Amino acid sequence: MVTASAPGKVYLFGEHAVVYGEPAVPCAIERRATVTVTERSDGLRVQADDLSLNGFTVEYEGKATDRPDIDVSESLVDAGMGYINEAIEQVKDATGAESVGFDVEINSQIPLGAGLGSSAAVAVAAIDAGTRELGVELQPEEIADRAYQVEKKVQDGEASRADTFCSAMGGAVRVEGDDCRQIEAPELPFVVGYDGGAGDTGALVAGVRRLREQYDFAADTVEAIGDIVRNGEQALADGNVEELGRLMDFNHGLLSALGVSSRSLDAMVWAARNGEAHGAKLTGAGGGGCIVALDETAESLTAMEYTPGCEQAFRAELDTTGVQMEAE
Ligand code: PMV
Repeated sequence: MVTASAPGKVYLFGEHAVVYGEPAVPCAIERRATVTVTERSDGLRVQADDLSLNGFTVEYEGKATDRPDIDVSESLVDAGMGYINEAIEQVKDATGAESVGFDVEINSQIPLGAGLGSSAAVAVAAIDAGTRELGVELQPEEIADRAYQVEKKVQDGEASRADTFCSAMGGAVRVEGDDCRQIEAPELPFVVGYDGGAGDTGALVAGVRRLREQYDFAADTVEAIGDIVRNGEQALADGNVEELGRLMDFNHGLLSALGVSSRSLDAMVWAARNGEAHGAKLTGAGGGGCIVALDETAESLTAMEYTPGCEQAFRAELDTTGVQMEAE
């Protein structure tokens, strides 16, 4: 039995534009997915608690045929099971052990499909725990790459390396196409607001793609997000949290122009700004889910808690620890 954990992430800058080759800066946060893998003779048994509000258990021989009893949409459950299946395929590929079975137990503090990289964190932790259980220790870069293959497969090719690289390495990272690296960052006082919902990443990415083909303004907006990211990298290097906040505000405005914000996301962004936040923006695909603000005081957290549409607000500072083994 081996247990490993990996962090979720927020996008400080650059979601959506990263799909078109612009750089993006995701940051790992202190909310982790923990996966325990135990070898068994055959089949795959998955037990997950806290993946959303309810847990679920499903037992199956290699493929998810049973319907878990869980209070989230079917597509989220299918996607969740897909990530676990594919992560186990990667474990088998990396270890050469084709015929073994596994018990997989997942505990996650990261809401599903809400822009905090839950699937990447689960895939990264599962690959680390699964390979270690079979006596193979992979470097975090290889785990990142294998978890990226998982996301690409489950998401029909529509995945960037951002979530998986960030989760495996921890800290702040810069992703531009296949070029992924860790970057220096000051302490970042992240506050997250969650509307209890989830966006449909595939549909949102497709919507931006259409807009970009139809209107020059949308193509310019994607490029302008790239400019914000480059300015943001400088602000990170300078440790200038105020400038980072200002740039986050600009980034949110441009994401709104691309049609991926929502009423509840906007409400939480404005609540945080009306508190003491240096800046605030949606994180991830948008449509619903989470916003991220920078605020070392308790003001924006309190403001969001009183905002209709905000189901939960929490502090989650930058996590410099990527994937790590917890127990064996
Ligand atoms: O919502 P998330 O955390 O899956 O992030 C999606 C980010 C996009 O840039 C919209 C798509 C991608 O794969 O980079």
